[in-house]
Amino acid sequence: MRVVATANLPIDLAAQVRAVLPAARVEVPVAGWTGLAALDLTAADALVCLLLDRIDAAVLARAPRLRVIANCAVGVDNIDLPAAAAAGVIVTNTPDVLTEATAEFAIALLFAAARRLGEGERLVRAGAWPGWRLDQLLGMQLAGKTLGVIGFGRIGQAVARRAGALGMRVIAVGSHEPVDPIFAAADAISLHCPLTPATRHLVDARRLALMRPGGILINTARGGCVDEAALADALASGHLAGAGLDVYAHEPAIHPRLLASPRAVLAPHLGSATTEARTQMAQLCADAVIAVLTGRRPANVVTR
Ligand code: GLV
Repeated sequence: MRVVATANLPIDLAAQVRAVLPAARVEVPVAGWTGLAALDLTAADALVCLLLDRIDAAVLARAPRLRVIANCAVGVDNIDLPAAAAAGVIVTNTPDVLTEATAEFAIALLFAAARRLGEGERLVRAGAWPGWRLDQLLGMQLAGKTLGVIGFGRIGQAVARRAGALGMRVIAVGSHEPVDPIFAAADAISLHCPLTPATRHLVDARRLALMRPGGILINTARGGCVDEAALADALASGHLAGAGLDVYAHEPAIHPRLLASPRAVLAPHLGSATTEARTQMAQLCADAVIAVLTGRRPANVVTR
């Protein structure tokens, strides 16, 4: 049996696999992440990968023995699921364990965008702060405002709970439901939907125009859910007061006009980046690999 991981994990994958399958060969990079192109998958029975790893029919063809792909992420848009299913490969993801971390980060971005934290920090670090001013960097109070949550799964619900505790009114829809009324009614919108053909550019110029002047967009879901050029326009015109972004269409590249927008708070895809969440995500991957290699059905299967 051969297990290949594209990244070093915060758990001892090799020890865990060998505790159950002593003859198994487990290949894990010594540190960091190794792209799939550099890995020999010919003999791999199991693969642990990251959202950075794009897995399509061509990659699957390089791995004729593969039985399971454990994606160390909740989003699985990096994997061609029909191709995996056609190849008889089970794909698993890591839900639940990153829900609180990601919801906390969405709220952090909401605060940061509403209160112009990035602009304030840059002012201070540039040595350009003239001192307290009555009208300096005025933002939007969240209490009493309306948060629109798009995608009302585990993370969307966890964000809604937090927003309620902040005194916000929450309106929510699943991403498959009509979303226009939410754009029109909310002071801030937070995205919590998967990236699918149906949600690609769900936030486009037309929907941004529906938003209230001074609105805020938060995206901790996937960059492809937003038309980034349209968002840059809405920020540049002043129609939107701010955006809090953790994800981008072409990571790690960032749309140049978002990079140039002072009102965009830009994070480097940190939603699940807590020690707690990342350790448990890795553990779910180890559990999935061990389950499949010992003939059990793993939890969190996303292939049909
Ligand atoms: C992170 O973006 C994830 O999908 O887990």
